[in-house]
Amino acid sequence: MAEEAKTTCYDGGCVKSFQFYLQHSGEHQAIFQSLHNILPGEFKRIGLDKSSLDVLGVGSGGGEVDAQILTVLQSTLPAVPITADIVEGSSQLTDFKALVAKITNLQKIPFAWHLMSSENYEKQVKAKGDMKKFDFIQMVQMIYYVDNLAGTITFYRSLLKNNGRLMIIVEAAHSGWDILWKTYKKELAVDAITEYRSSAEVIAYLKSEGLKYEEHAIPNTFDITECFDPSSKTGEHLLDFMTAKNHFYQSFTPEIRAGILDLLRSKCSTEKDGKVIFNSNLSCIFVHA
Ligand SMILES: C[S@@+](CC[C@H](N)C(=O)[O-])C[C@H]1O[C@@H](n2cnc3c(N)ncnc32)[C@H](O)[C@@H]1O
Repeated sequence: MAEEAKTTCYDGGCVKSFQFYLQHSGEHQAIFQSLHNILPGEFKRIGLDKSSLDVLGVGSGGGEVDAQILTVLQSTLPAVPITADIVEGSSQLTDFKALVAKITNLQKIPFAWHLMSSENYEKQVKAKGDMKKFDFIQMVQMIYYVDNLAGTITFYRSLLKNNGRLMIIVEAAHSGWDILWKTYKKELAVDAITEYRSSAEVIAYLKSEGLKYEEHAIPNTFDITECFDPSSKTGEHLLDFMTAKNHFYQSFTPEIRAGILDLLRSKCSTEKDGKVIFNSNLSCIFVHA
């Protein structure tokens, strides 16, 4: 089927900026650590009486988190065959394929690659009418980019098998990200992200629909001291990523820049030993089928 215009925003500069952020923030390590604690219990429940398990990753990027999830699943239920479908519209899908080629245990898993946005995958599945159902669907740090939160959760829940789970990892309510993006919504939520969502919006939606879920905290912080040194390249790259701009210093008026820096220091962070430590807590939400 011909792919329509919308792929994802994550090409070129966006990918580089995200990789820089990952190196600096320790975000993947924080996610991996929490998933290693949370997932084995979840997988034992999901896998009860199942002879095979089907997993779907949406917005998987370079696949580092998916690789961890699949590895935990294999070691929790070693006798159960697994399939993996991946929906990712950016060039990062190539990196994900290269990662799979390097990890021996993943080579046993048949992967189906869907190089398209979540919205186009939904259209394609609905047009075909034969929905492959899944035991576990994961969306890690991508719910900000989908057109419609409610529609996306409804669609992916409809793909869950009995006892399946949809796992959404998102910035936590009241985290530094949540405070920054909600305070400066008018200036920040103008490009790929037009409606900022933290766990607050996801949980509010789940509650409004009476859907069953569990939430786990994924604690994380990182050092943003260099953001306050205008000559620091690291500081500028971090500010670019955190405000989703190519050039923080050229993108805002001096008043807005000063306001953002003040907010980052006073409301989004704590200060310790002369360092400014940003609250980057995440939330891991398991939505029931
Ligand atoms: C912040 S990255 C997270 C990548 C990966 N899940 C991780 O945590 O390392 C966001 C990812 O969502 C993807 N994405 C953005 N909009 C999307 C959409 N509408 N449908 C599917 N994926 C999307 C991007 O291509 C990118 O890979």
